[in-house]
Amino acid sequence: MVNNHKRKGVLRKCAMNQPKVEEASFVLIMIADPLGVEENMDRVLESWEKLGYMKPDMRISYGNLMKSLYGEKDSLTRKLFAVKNTSLYAMNIMITAKGLGLDTHPMDGFDEACVKKEFNIPEDKIIPMIIAVGHLKPGVTLLPRAFRRDLTEFTTYNDYKK
Ligand SMILES: Cc1cc2nc3c(=O)[nH]c(=O)nc-3n(C[C@H](O)[C@H](O)[C@H](O)COP(=O)(O)O)c2cc1C
Repeated sequence: MVNNHKRKGVLRKCAMNQPKVEEASFVLIMIADPLGVEENMDRVLESWEKLGYMKPDMRISYGNLMKSLYGEKDSLTRKLFAVKNTSLYAMNIMITAKGLGLDTHPMDGFDEACVKKEFNIPEDKIIPMIIAVGHLKPGVTLLPRAFRRDLTEFTTYNDYKK
């Protein structure tokens, strides 16, 4: 979370100079960690064992299953897995923030290398987006919602083809 005015200014420079980065109450740098599997797997398996999700003798096979599902450390599968999880988390944050009376703005308009350098984020991490969070400026009215495809245009049933 970046909530210090000076640091928000630094982030703004990495984010195409977008004013909202500095004006928002705070900005979240969403970080996907492809190595989170190794870091947390033991703790997750331990809780699964404790809560009865699995028997103790299944620990090794569950561990191997996780590693094969999530891909090798440097694989695209692993990176996508990390980004999927972080994006689900991001959307939940945005919905929760709205429920708390805050507005959010997800942004992809930033230089990832610059954000990593300025905020000491290790090279192996991925930043799927940054999210500005705050209150709408008093007196500002948003433009009406722009074009959205109708659900029926991209929903099919039981097969990709209509
Ligand atoms: C992944 C993603 C990245 C985006 N990046 C930016 C951005 O850098 N700057 C910006 O002004 N809007 C960006 N947008 C668009 C806005 O976040 C937002 O979707 C748009 O203003 C429409 O708002 P609405 O979806 O609530 O109608 C991005 C949207 C998404 C989904």
